Amino acid sequence: MAPHDDRSDVAEEAMVAEAEKRPIATIVIIIAMQTEALPLVNRFQLTEDLDSVFPRGVPWVRYHGIYKDLHISIIWPGKDLVLGVDNVGTVSASLVTYASIQALQPDLVINAGTAGGFKAKGACVGDVVLATDVAFHDRRIPIPVFDQYGIGLRKACSAPNLLKELNLKIGALSTGDSLDMSPHDESSILANGATVKDMEGAAVAYVADLLKVPVIFIKAVTDIVDGEKPTAEEFLQNLAAVTAALDQSVTKVVDFINGKCISEL
Ligand code: ADE
Repeated sequence: MAPHDDRSDVAEEAMVAEAEKRPIATIVIIIAMQTEALPLVNRFQLTEDLDSVFPRGVPWVRYHGIYKDLHISIIWPGKDLVLGVDNVGTVSASLVTYASIQALQPDLVINAGTAGGFKAKGACVGDVVLATDVAFHDRRIPIPVFDQYGIGLRKACSAPNLLKELNLKIGALSTGDSLDMSPHDESSILANGATVKDMEGAAVAYVADLLKVPVIFIKAVTDIVDGEKPTAEEFLQNLAAVTAALDQSVTKVVDFINGKCISEL
């Protein structure tokens, strides 16, 4: 293995600091479900990329275009090639985040989508939450240090002005590959202090952190995890209405971002 070079760390930090002072020009929005993505594709008048930046044969879809001063790409991981359902979850989310950052070199990644909310933390159906911290709840490795690795706690890009301007709720986001919540998941989610629970956020955070791209998380609550209703039923019942709330919030966030640099968020 090559020796670790402190000088390359310093150079990389200087590049990141420099980038934070330039107006944001290119954003990548990662959205797991087509139902969540299409209203925003229409809102920003994006078109599907027919000459794909992704490897041939993958189902990943990129919609892109210019909105105000921004080049926006919405990336949807597409549908499972055999089963025909949306490619939700951490595996597809990390793959498309990696491929999109490599191909498009965005100044900012946004992971937008729906989530389960915890009423004990004040979440209600239709709320839109800007996540401050993200972590996994289904990677339990009870060996010192591996336990922390499994949790994979990461911070979202700090955005105090965005928060003030848009009046969004804030909270921690916990990610796992299941829509339901096992008792094991529940105790990890509690330990993560989560207000919302999704199936992609911490995976997107991992890749964005690896490739040193700032990331924000916008999650709209479709179901109350610590409520009375069965999760899948409540999720499907509220998906369309909550997607409209997500669409409005993401548009406001993008309007706010336009013309600003990362350090002004
Ligand atoms: N997306 C919407 N609701 C969810 C839930 N309860 N868990 C994980 N992801 C979700």
